[in-house]
Amino acid sequence: MSWAVVTGAAGGIGTAISHRLAEEGRRLILVDMAPALAKVAADLETSTMVRAVQADLTTEGGIRAVHAEVLELGSLELVVNNAGITRDARLTNLSEENFDLVMDVNLGAPLRLVERLHPLMEAGAIVNISSRAYLGNFGQYNYSMSKGGLVGLTRAYALRLAPRIRVNAIAPGLIGTEMTKSIPAEVREKMVAAIPMQRMGAPEEVAALVSYLASATYITGEVITIGGGRSLSR
Ligand SMILES: NC(=O)c1ccc[n+]([C@@H]2O[C@H](COP(=O)([O-])OP(=O)(O)OC[C@H]3O[C@@H](n4cnc5c(N)ncnc54)[C@H](O)[C@@H]3O)[C@@H](O)[C@H]2O)c1
Repeated sequence: MSWAVVTGAAGGIGTAISHRLAEEGRRLILVDMAPALAKVAADLETSTMVRAVQADLTTEGGIRAVHAEVLELGSLELVVNNAGITRDARLTNLSEENFDLVMDVNLGAPLRLVERLHPLMEAGAIVNISSRAYLGNFGQYNYSMSKGGLVGLTRAYALRLAPRIRVNAIAPGLIGTEMTKSIPAEVREKMVAAIPMQRMGAPEEVAALVSYLASATYITGEVITIGGGRSLSR
């Protein structure tokens, strides 16, 4: 059985993805900069083989640490680029620092990781966690740009790596995690009211889609939205 890399594994969606992949018997290399990663890895140790790499993916050292782990373990079949951040601000208040950071975590890191890891993959899949914000979210300039860039990366690499590796993106709508807890309650309620399914999505629902794309052998270069029907107009 070969290994899967999951980035942002200590976060809400990343933890759910890790549990789902473990249930399916995949061996996991979990990556996150947060110390909480150790607990996620410990919880999974009874169900599968797990390695934890605590690393900042915006640094060359962080990318090298993941690469070294994969080299040591051998066969890599799946990479899930899930680590991501928001630093929302009005365009006039958007600092260069927060623009660069969001672009670096959400777009630069997946690019560097894919570039470094794909030569180690005989076959398999890459799943990039974009966001429905790639369509352009009000007040989320740097985030929307980074997630749109990730769609471009997905499509360009899908062409480049076919037929050996399939590359797809997932565009979640509002999912219940720490990231969305930071949205003021009254704003969140309005956002939920606009969702035909009348609720936020669960991280486990995104994880199920990752699992599907990991083994969907004739899908590549696609962006799949999981947003409770938000793409519909009333
Ligand atoms: N929650 C949502 O509603 C939602 C919607 C659409 C897309 N997404 C995307 O889903 C992904 C996961 O989001 P989440 O809601 O689970 O967020 P989260 O904040 O719970 O988890 C993100 C994880 O990424 C890690 N991380 C951040 N910067 C890193 C770095 N430089 N190096 C290594 N790890 C780093 C964090 O430590 C954290 O554990 C993100 O890419 C996010 O943009 C989330």
